[in-house]
Amino acid sequence: MTNRVAVIGAGPSGLAQLRAFQSAKDKGAKIPEIVCFEKQSDWGGLWNYSWRTGVDEYGNQCHGSMYRYLWSNGPKEGLEFADYTFEEHFGKAIASFPPRAVLFDYIKGRVEKAGVRNMIRFSTIVRDVRALASGGFEVTTRDEVADLDTTEFFDKVIVATGHFSVPNVPEYPGFDQFSGRILHAHDFRDAREFSSKNLLILGTSYSAEDIGSQCWKYGAKSITVAHRTAPMGYDWPTNWKEVPKLDRVEGSTAHFIDGTSTDVDAIILCTGYKHHFPFLPDDLRLKTTNRLATTDLYKGVVWTKNPNVFYLGMQDQWYTFNMFDAQAWWVRDCIMDRIVLPTPKAMIQDVVDRVAAEDTISDDYGCY
Ligand SMILES: Cc1cc2nc3c(=O)[nH]c(=O)nc-3n(C[C@H](O)[C@H](O)[C@H](O)COP(=O)(O)OP(=O)(O)OC[C@H]3O[C@@H](n4cnc5c(N)ncnc54)[C@H](O)[C@@H]3O)c2cc1C
Ligand SMILES: NC(=O)c1ccc[n+]([C@@H]2O[C@H](COP(=O)([O-])OP(=O)(O)OC[C@H]3O[C@@H](n4cnc5c(N)ncnc54)[C@H](OP(=O)(O)O)[C@@H]3O)[C@@H](O)[C@H]2O)c1
Repeated sequence: MTNRVAVIGAGPSGLAQLRAFQSAKDKGAKIPEIVCFEKQSDWGGLWNYSWRTGVDEYGNQCHGSMYRYLWSNGPKEGLEFADYTFEEHFGKAIASFPPRAVLFDYIKGRVEKAGVRNMIRFSTIVRDVRALASGGFEVTTRDEVADLDTTEFFDKVIVATGHFSVPNVPEYPGFDQFSGRILHAHDFRDAREFSSKNLLILGTSYSAEDIGSQCWKYGAKSITVAHRTAPMGYDWPTNWKEVPKLDRVEGSTAHFIDGTSTDVDAIILCTGYKHHFPFLPDDLRLKTTNRLATTDLYKGVVWTKNPNVFYLGMQDQWYTFNMFDAQAWWVRDCIMDRIVLPTPKAMIQDVVDRVAAEDTISDDYGCY
């Protein structure tokens, strides 16, 4: 019998979990006590824009990675909630690629309607989770407003803290002597900062494409994108070039492995993010790369080494809100004993099979 469930994080994944339990309750089911801990003062996760970079007002790592003029890079039709349409929220049809603020409003609309805000303790960071030999977990949190630590018992723990917040920051020779600014995409907020500047971007994925395009649009003098594996290969404007991997920086000159070089004012590292769970001990901590078949998670959500721990949204994010919903509803049904988990051996085999299947796929199109 599960009495208490801790949900860590009130971003889209954690909110999906709260909505899933509330939906069961609405239909007359008896649900466990759900306590959601959110380190920020509002819900929405990455969609809750913050001007802050570095540390937050309490000295914790700042979660936000979004920027002022961010627009969705996937069509809204691909992430619509099954139980709350865009049309219901906005009362009319809207464009396929909405700006961040519009999607934030939509995310909030569903959970406001569901009335789940009282399940969340805001400005409360989870600092430590320990599995007890007798079963269940001790979860230690800090209420940053009251400046108080509390340790409580929970039967199950659901980790929904996202994985696009802690930057992967490589170092190249000469960075320590570079005369301009070096920042990671996590700390990029406003493209106007780079108008009239010559920019070097490292990486060729979503952040590189989007941040480069924004800086170009807001008047950057030139954009140079260095690739580690392969160029993006689009038909770029004349003041945008793609070059091979960065070799080193000398003063303000970036040298590439093909022997070419260019002078730059700033370097933006669009080099991805790390799965990072400083509040989890080794025996509960997910260690995976950014991929579809995440390590050690049965069906992508159950921690095979302790099936009373669940993770949401840890995959590379091809689908987002609707995938988080599918996971949250499934996890809810596990916790409410509507789904019976197989043996540990079968769960591990599921992971092995899915990792092997993904490894045979040669390009992004195969992943669908
Ligand atoms: C720059 C950028 C742009 C993106 N654009 C899109 C897009 O256009 N469309 C799309 O569908 N997806 C986009 N994404 C993907 C994004 O990851 C998902 O849309 C979504 O925000 C993931 O939800 P989540 O709840 O799993 O994680 P998050 O949104 O990261 O939320 C995690 C929550 O956990 C909280 N938390 C973290 N640690 C703790 C702790 N120790 N204790 C308590 N709380 C904690 C955080 O404060 C946060 O509120 C983008 C991501 C980035 C980085
Ligand atoms: N507008 C939007 O909606 C928007 C904008 C930005 C980001 N996002 C979202 O944010 C998430 C993260 O995207 P992302 O682009 O930040 O990360 P990502 O997709 O993980 O890409 C990381 C990039 O960094 C490169 N890289 C990693 N280590 C490197 C190193 N040491 N040197 C040089 N290059 C290195 C990788 O190159 P290799 O190919 O060589 O591995 C890859 O190109 C995605 O879900 C994306 O959709 C959305």
